Amino acid sequence: MATAQISILLFMAVGVLSIYDSFRLPHALRPVHYELRILTHLNGPDQLRFEGQVQIDLRVLEQTSNITLHAKNLTIDQTQITLKSRTGNNCINRTEFDEEKEFFILQTCEWLQHDEQYELFIPFEGALNGNESGYYWSSFSDAQTNVTSYLAVTQFSPTFARFAFPCFDEPHLKATFNITLGYHKNYIGQSNTPISKCEEHAKLDNYVWCQHEPLFRTSTYLVAYAVHNLTSADIQSSDTDYNVTFASWMQPEVLEDSHFLANLAPRVLSYLEKLFKFSFPLRKVDQLAVPTHKFSAMENWGLVTYKQSKFTHNDNEELLESKQHKATTVGHEYAHQWFGNLVTMSWWNDLWLKEGPSTYFAYLTLDALMPDWSSAECYIADDLGMFFRQDATSTSIAISRDVDDAASTLKQFSEYVYKKGSLTLRMLHKLLGDDVFFAAIRSYVQRHAYSSVTQSDLWQAMQQAVDANSSIAQLGVAPVMDSWTKQAGYPLVSVMRDYATGSVSVNQMRFLLPGDVQAESANCWWIPLTFVVQREPNFAATQAQFWLDCRNSGNRNLTLLAKPSTREWIMLNPQVSTIYRVNYDAHNWRLIIETLNSTAHVGDIHVLNRAQLMDDIMALAWLNVQSYELAFSMLEYLPHEPHVVPWKRILDVLGKHGDLLRDEQTPLFRRFMQQLVAPLYKSCPALGATRTTSSTKMQEVSLCRLAYAQACRYGVENCISEALRLDRESVDANYRDIVYCASIERGDEQQFRLVRQAFQNATNEAVLESLATGLGCSRNFTLLQPFLDYLLRETDMTRNNCYMQVVASALQRKQVAQQTANHILQHAATLK
Ligand SMILES: *[C@@H]1O[C@H](CO)[C@@H](O)[C@H](O)[C@H]1NC(C)=O
Ligand SMILES: *[C@@H]1O[C@H](CO)[C@@H](O)[C@H](O)[C@H]1NC(C)=O
Ligand SMILES: *[C@@H]1O[C@H](CO)[C@@H](O)[C@H](O)[C@H]1NC(C)=O
Ligand SMILES: *[C@@H]1O[C@H](CO)[C@@H](O)[C@H](O)[C@H]1NC(C)=O
Ligand SMILES: *[C@@H]1O[C@H](CO)[C@@H](O)[C@H](O)[C@H]1NC(C)=O
Ligand SMILES: *[C@@H]1O[C@H](CO)[C@@H](O)[C@H](O)[C@H]1NC(C)=O
Ligand SMILES: *[C@@H]1O[C@H](CO)[C@@H](O)[C@H](O)[C@H]1NC(C)=O
Ligand SMILES: *[C@@H]1O[C@H](CO)[C@@H](O)[C@H](O)[C@H]1NC(C)=O
Ligand SMILES: *[C@@H]1O[C@H](CO)[C@@H](O)[C@H](O)[C@H]1NC(C)=O
Ligand SMILES: *[C@@H]1O[C@H](CO)[C@@H](O)[C@H](O)[C@H]1NC(C)=O
Ligand SMILES: *[C@@H]1O[C@H](CO)[C@@H](O)[C@H](O)[C@H]1NC(C)=O
Ligand SMILES: *[C@@H]1O[C@H](CO)[C@@H](O)[C@H](O)[C@H]1NC(C)=O
Ligand SMILES: [Zn+2]
Repeated sequence: MATAQISILLFMAVGVLSIYDSFRLPHALRPVHYELRILTHLNGPDQLRFEGQVQIDLRVLEQTSNITLHAKNLTIDQTQITLKSRTGNNCINRTEFDEEKEFFILQTCEWLQHDEQYELFIPFEGALNGNESGYYWSSFSDAQTNVTSYLAVTQFSPTFARFAFPCFDEPHLKATFNITLGYHKNYIGQSNTPISKCEEHAKLDNYVWCQHEPLFRTSTYLVAYAVHNLTSADIQSSDTDYNVTFASWMQPEVLEDSHFLANLAPRVLSYLEKLFKFSFPLRKVDQLAVPTHKFSAMENWGLVTYKQSKFTHNDNEELLESKQHKATTVGHEYAHQWFGNLVTMSWWNDLWLKEGPSTYFAYLTLDALMPDWSSAECYIADDLGMFFRQDATSTSIAISRDVDDAASTLKQFSEYVYKKGSLTLRMLHKLLGDDVFFAAIRSYVQRHAYSSVTQSDLWQAMQQAVDANSSIAQLGVAPVMDSWTKQAGYPLVSVMRDYATGSVSVNQMRFLLPGDVQAESANCWWIPLTFVVQREPNFAATQAQFWLDCRNSGNRNLTLLAKPSTREWIMLNPQVSTIYRVNYDAHNWRLIIETLNSTAHVGDIHVLNRAQLMDDIMALAWLNVQSYELAFSMLEYLPHEPHVVPWKRILDVLGKHGDLLRDEQTPLFRRFMQQLVAPLYKSCPALGATRTTSSTKMQEVSLCRLAYAQACRYGVENCISEALRLDRESVDANYRDIVYCASIERGDEQQFRLVRQAFQNATNEAVLESLATGLGCSRNFTLLQPFLDYLLRETDMTRNNCYMQVVASALQRKQVAQQTANHILQHAATLK
């Protein structure tokens, strides 16, 4: 390793105004391989640090006289940096940090020659991060002995690898990695790959250096390592091509609650490997339940990390819905092994290329492995509800959009990008059908494995699969799909039937909420039109019958092959497979309402469409395009709606409307809601009986949760008196938070103290959160304030974090919203 020493002219790394105007690295160099050694110290709260060295093999694409890479908050002794080529030595003249761009710039003594390879060696050290980014520390304490154990683990996505070692921290700059970890023998060291060999540390007693097997070409954000003394659950094998073994690690206290997720992961990986027909390339996966985590989970190759509370589940204390949610997270992280890890977006602008598919395939995985949960339908319904509400303002942004700096990159990780990304991929799936869609997905993974892509690579794979299949109508995938990913918002398609001639005229315009102004340039989408007719209500056929494009200002006259009679409805967009709203002429609306209102035929209309029809007509009434009279006549069918999906959507939509009403309208609205919800409430078991009669069926549990919550919110019958009467322990875990909320909202000081005491006694994070949410339902700030103050003083971070739950719930209540907002402002400095 010995090479020429550098003569340092300017010793201090100065934070200069560098010449760069872009946050992207220059194109002159490409990292080929990293040889990384990290020595971790976990000797108590003041000694949480690491020392490291990295040797990066570089290929020169363009002659250059500097090496610009990423580093942040690392201490680097510049006298120890070396640079050599195969043919001779080179050296570093000068280094500087560009703080804003997070660049470390090394000026070389000699020019780096095109096509030549160089070895850059940088030693560095740093404190383990306390912010759950980069290489960070976490801790847990033993309930009996009260001894605190520290651990160190990485969170590199999206731009935090640079906090841990100097690197070319852009996703397309993949390289191979050899990782060697040093630590005290009492700990376990893990990385993406298994250990190949260990040796004693030459100087430090009881320390070892363990070398891990080489890791194939990987983006820096997926590299991972950890040093800990967590406990392992039983090793699991999996039905995968390389017999991948799974180990799950956590603090001993939560071992018992980890079985469900620890056992689910190998099944998920196996299912996805068969679906994508591409072998998972590693031999082992370690799952780490970390007490603190910046996100819910992270999909690092071979070392998947979870926030501990997302990895454990206790059926007696937590919601069934939350179990389902955690299972979805497992599906999501393992779908990433293909979408993100193998095939990576070149840059963060196309983040949706990994988050959309991982979200969508997680739903499909859950349906395959837990069929009685019907997860996909419920999640897609929720995602649609969120999407149609959120993407209806002129301030919304396209999912594929330019980002440059670290902060805007982090902001890309929004629910919106995940959900719209998923809905966009689902649109392709429904449009192309299983065969073509999966053929395309498989060839995309095959072709781009270990490499990086832009969204046009996905469109190209889809196009080839379309072209190769004669059963599917010709279509230009790229222009169609770009119109959905590169534009924000969504269209409203209006359908006017000419009942005399049987022709149908359709047009599109962007849907915006009242008062929102349309931007200068009119938006336009490529919209697949699929009609269903009443006589033959086939909601399974989702391929396009016509296209509505941007010609003729988005207008078209059509003749439907099915020739619907004037007495039967037509309906667009079966299963809401494309993300647009629809308006019809009044006669067609009435025909639809008639079918909904008929017990025998309501089931003819797909459940996702039933939810969407109500959502659409309420939105249209709000816009004054249809009358509220028509909208409310549609809601008359609800008493015989058996499914949670339409209920959930309409109650959500109505709740939002209710929030906007003037004070004098409130009692009327309240009465309307009581009438609407009462039959639903009555159809569920009495709250006090839920402990014994409780269903374990997802559908029923979700529907009753909705019924109790809304009934207590709008004061239906005995919901509140029941909640006040009940001992919380006598209520099933699925409904306990509703009881807390109702009893706190209406209850007196005594109720508040009881729940507060339960909060102080509780240890389970999910229980703490639901109690905190309940306490936030109080209408009396005199009670609330001491509790908020206590939370801020609390050093236990799980409790401290509950401040957010409390204020989130309190801000929704008129009586205390203002005082709560003031409390937040007064304490803004102490809040993270
Ligand atoms: C580093 O080299 C690249 C490529 O030759 C060049 O574009 C860039 O301006 C240089 N940066 C500095 C700080 O010298
Ligand atoms: C590096 O420094 C040497 C001497 O200080 C100088 O001659 C040379 O031009 C410098 N090289 C670069 C690339 O700046
Ligand atoms: C930077 O490192 C120092 C000590 O090395 C540490 O105290 C500080 O918290 C770190 N800051 C960030 C943002 O990680
Ligand atoms: C933690 O992150 C916040 C913002 O996310 C930042 O203001 C703070 O300086 C960071 N603290 C440390 C110790 O890194
Ligand atoms: C455990 O430690 C905390 C502070 O670290 C202290 O407040 C508490 O009393 C201790 N409990 C026991 C049982 O020693
Ligand atoms: C982890 O290490 C700490 C410090 O060495 C020790 O006190 C603790 O008992 C260990 N915990 C486990 C679960 O082994
Ligand atoms: C990585 O480590 C392996 C030994 O585990 C070694 O054979 C290989 O040469 C190393 N790769 C590089 C590029 O140094
Ligand atoms: C996986 O296990 C099966 C049965 O135990 C064995 O036949 C097969 O060779 C193994 N495959 C690999 C790649 O190790
Ligand atoms: C559709 O038909 C109407 C009347 O039949 C006509 O006025 C209109 O121009 C037609 N639109 C298009 C796009 O052909
Ligand atoms: C729906 O059906 C009920 C009877 O089942 C009837 O009273 C009501 O008027 C109908 N509503 C509409 C809008 O047709
Ligand atoms: C909390 O714990 C105390 C002491 O262990 C106990 O007396 C009290 O009943 C508990 N309160 C609740 C609400 O669980
Ligand atoms: C709020 O609680 C305090 C303390 O119990 C009580 O004195 C006060 O009357 C309550 N205020 C209202 C409006 O109920
Ligand atoms: Zn993800």
